[in-house]
Amino acid sequence: MSSTVELLERFPDAEDYCRLRADAGMATRTIEAARRGLANTLYGVSVVREGEVIGMGRIIGDGGCFFVVVDIAVAPEHQGQGLGKRIMGALDAWLRANAPPSAVVSLVADGEAKHLYAKYGFVETTPHSVNMEYQVDPADARPPR
Ligand SMILES: CC(C)(COP(=O)(O)OP(=O)(O)OC[C@H]1O[C@@H](n2cnc3c(N)ncnc32)[C@H](O)[C@@H]1OP(=O)(O)O)[C@@H](O)C(=O)NCCC(=O)NCCS
Repeated sequence: MSSTVELLERFPDAEDYCRLRADAGMATRTIEAARRGLANTLYGVSVVREGEVIGMGRIIGDGGCFFVVVDIAVAPEHQGQGLGKRIMGALDAWLRANAPPSAVVSLVADGEAKHLYAKYGFVETTPHSVNMEYQVDPADARPPR
């Protein structure tokens, strides 16, 4: 018997968010970081099956000049069935309706996920620009020097 998979226009709570990032093999975030960060989501979606969150994606940014697509994830056992495209389709529709002319929409593509994003107009910016970042050490709130 097949079960219903629903896309909801709300982002998972901090607990489901941390669990799904870990399940999908992504770098983990502390629950405190998640609680603070998720409150600042511009738009997010959840994919739910039998009450369990199995997919997510969200947009952060300043709402005018810069928008960033983050936290695109599908639980491993549900990958390869079009859920990533459903998530990106919803985010793309929101951006088309809400991002003003001249805004830049960006993301960091991990591994082969770049093929998914290319379907929604994202192009690689190397060598003109490269992604640069650091992660705050949980044991030390300052960036490394
Ligand atoms: C990336 C991810 C979200 C894709 O979700 P998914 O539900 O498996 O994706 P879909 O089934 O909707 O397929 C999306 C499309 O992306 C492409 N794609 C996805 N993974 C791919 C891969 N490993 N290699 C090549 N193309 C890939 C395919 O072209 C596919 O489209 P097609 O079926 O029309 O060919 C999912 O694999 C995932 O959660 N991965 C682990 C976490 C992660 O890396 N997230 C991205 C962080 S940037």
